[in-house]
Amino acid sequence: MKKKVTSRQLVWLTWKFLIGASIALCLFVFIRLEQRSDDNQVIKIARSEAKGGNPKIAFLFLTRRNLPLDFLWDTFFQNGELSNYSIYVHSEPGFVFNQSTTRSSFFHNRQLVNSIKVAWGESTMIDAERLLLQVALENPSNQRFLLLSDSCVPLYNFSFIYSYLMASERSFVDSFHDKKGNEERYNPKMSPVIPKNKWRKGSQWITLTRRHAEEVVDDEIIFARRPLDDPLQGRKNLVSYAPSVIHQKDIPLNYLQKKLPPLPRHTTPPKLQKQHNCIPDEHYVQTLLAMKNLEGELERRTLTYTQWNESASNVETKGWHPVTFSYSDASPQQINRIKDINHVYYETEYRTEWCSRNSTSVPCFLFARKFSQGAAVRLLSLGTVGQIEASALLNSPP
Ligand SMILES: *[C@@H]1O[C@H](CO)[C@@H](O)[C@H](O)[C@H]1NC(C)=O
Ligand SMILES: *[C@@H]1O[C@H](CO)[C@@H](O)[C@H](O)[C@H]1NC(C)=O
Ligand SMILES: *[C@@H]1O[C@H](CO)[C@@H](O)[C@H](O)[C@H]1NC(C)=O
Ligand SMILES: *[C@@H]1O[C@H](CO)[C@@H](O)[C@H](O)[C@H]1NC(C)=O
Ligand SMILES: *[C@@H]1O[C@H](CO)[C@@H](O)[C@H](O)[C@H]1NC(C)=O
Repeated sequence: MKKKVTSRQLVWLTWKFLIGASIALCLFVFIRLEQRSDDNQVIKIARSEAKGGNPKIAFLFLTRRNLPLDFLWDTFFQNGELSNYSIYVHSEPGFVFNQSTTRSSFFHNRQLVNSIKVAWGESTMIDAERLLLQVALENPSNQRFLLLSDSCVPLYNFSFIYSYLMASERSFVDSFHDKKGNEERYNPKMSPVIPKNKWRKGSQWITLTRRHAEEVVDDEIIFARRPLDDPLQGRKNLVSYAPSVIHQKDIPLNYLQKKLPPLPRHTTPPKLQKQHNCIPDEHYVQTLLAMKNLEGELERRTLTYTQWNESASNVETKGWHPVTFSYSDASPQQINRIKDINHVYYETEYRTEWCSRNSTSVPCFLFARKFSQGAAVRLLSLGTVGQIEASALLNSPP
């Protein structure tokens, strides 16, 4: 009798032990997982951001070194909504955006660490653009990709620009047939890779939807990737290198970037090599999207206003040089004149582009270049980009 009870008790005790042990084990695993996700904030944020959040605009700054107009952008972003944008900067290798080089903390830790030396007007410029797009694509919240130079200024406040871009499912890419005296820019050697009827020209300053940004980064036709046996080849690979989403200002970009392999360099860039008079960055995206038959998904114009110097002495280079706006050029009248532009004429195609977005008539330009610091100070004081804090004016250059 006694023995029976003991054995029943033994079974019961064994069960109790097993259940207890299981619970303990579960708890242990749970705690460990929690600790691990604490260790790895990047992954944790990636999960929560992937679930939802506002669609973001990725501001991609292609700079020579610093951003001389950072004080203007600082006010612009302060009047924006942190969850609606992300910032990426490509600058000269070795140049660091920190307290000594920029007054605006919006640009700290937003720099690509795998940046390359860019020669203006050469194909390295395209490499830099693709690096920016590639990194920005790692954040699934980024839905519009806006390329800007270090002399670009916004002509409106953040919310105006945000809703302008988000209300359109199209990219804004200046694109036209490059003929009329510029025939030599199409090199017959580019055929058949680039058919002559797909050869386009247009401003480098583009705004892409996510789908078109992916097309540019994935391009294997014009700028071929590494050979197939290369372990770093393919976008799938790039994604697995950096599964994380960077959280604005929380996680230094460098953290993520160190794990990204550099974009494969085209072994020979035969197709878009610098020809006589050929500036590849004024052809690349336009031509690629035309070749992919995506022109129907574009507003074929740029959002960035450039004023060309009509009075340049040399006939060859007439109208080639952008005018730099000084303080006196940035008068309210001048700025309003640019903002009031509602159409663009494309001479080579006899095409007038009436500026619209999702079939609604809109001003053509959201940005302008090239602005000096003085011109940007004036723009800031006009309240163009939003309410100014006293510190913004104090921080702006004299
Ligand atoms: C900024 O970066 C440069 C280059 O790495 C460095 O020499 C300088 O000390 C840094 N300044 C600050 C304030 O961190
Ligand atoms: C932004 O600019 C638009 C148009 O200029 C204006 O209507 C709107 O009130 C401004 N919004 C803010 C938050 O300043
Ligand atoms: C931020 O995004 C949300 C959702 O798209 C939008 O409703 C809101 O107006 C945006 N804020 C600004 C300041 O643009
Ligand atoms: C474009 O306009 C149509 C009709 O006005 C509207 O239904 C649609 O939501 C708009 N698209 C976007 C992306 O805002
Ligand atoms: C236009 O070019 C001419 C000749 O190169 C120069 O003298 C003039 O200052 C330029 N004008 C502007 C507004 O940049």
